[in-house]
Amino acid sequence: MALTIAVDGPAASGKGTIGRALAERFGLGYLDTGLLYRAVGRRMLDGEAPVAAARALCAADLEAEGLRGPEAAEAASRVAAIPEVRAALVDFQRAFAAREGGAVLDGRDIGTVICPDAPVKLYVTATAEARAARRFKELVGQGHATSFEDVLADIRARDARDAGRADAPMRAAEDAVHIDTTELDVAAAIARAVAEVAARQ
Ligand code: C5P
Repeated sequence: MALTIAVDGPAASGKGTIGRALAERFGLGYLDTGLLYRAVGRRMLDGEAPVAAARALCAADLEAEGLRGPEAAEAASRVAAIPEVRAALVDFQRAFAAREGGAVLDGRDIGTVICPDAPVKLYVTATAEARAARRFKELVGQGHATSFEDVLADIRARDARDAGRADAPMRAAEDAVHIDTTELDVAAAIARAVAEVAARQ
């Protein structure tokens, strides 16, 4: 059976970096599921009703400008709390997970809802301060005018909303392996994840 790897965790925990590295290392497809919610959030900011936007989502939406920015992230987290939005995105994610060559999906509910039978589940965390410091550096590098305090407050608000929603809240699956990246650099975090996957293959 093709290998499916679920990588969940909060914003800026390193799950995207780990997910991409695992996909490359093991020759699997990679899907950043946050991008789907960001694209729906983007369309909501442009005036569309989120449920209709989620149902009409297409590949071109994932190429839209500004999806990685803080505005789209905030909008994503709001539309992600709407059950009909989540429902509209399930089939695409499950189809991707079932692709022949195997796949890595990163998100919030991959191990719990989208792929509960994935043979490998990772839950990547780091303190809110460490995550905010990373995100702050990234945003400043991209030319965004912001402060560390604002980024930390955004991260905390998003964590609370993602973990507190009724439908598919952000949480670790019972059988997930936890990787705390607070004290790990990128290479060490990837090495940990690769070792966990290799041990479970
Ligand atoms: O991972 P990323 O930060 O890009 O996700 C943006 C937002 O999309 C998250 O804050 C969360 O609200 C939502 N999301 C989700 N379920 C996923 C992936 C993302 O609810 N599987």
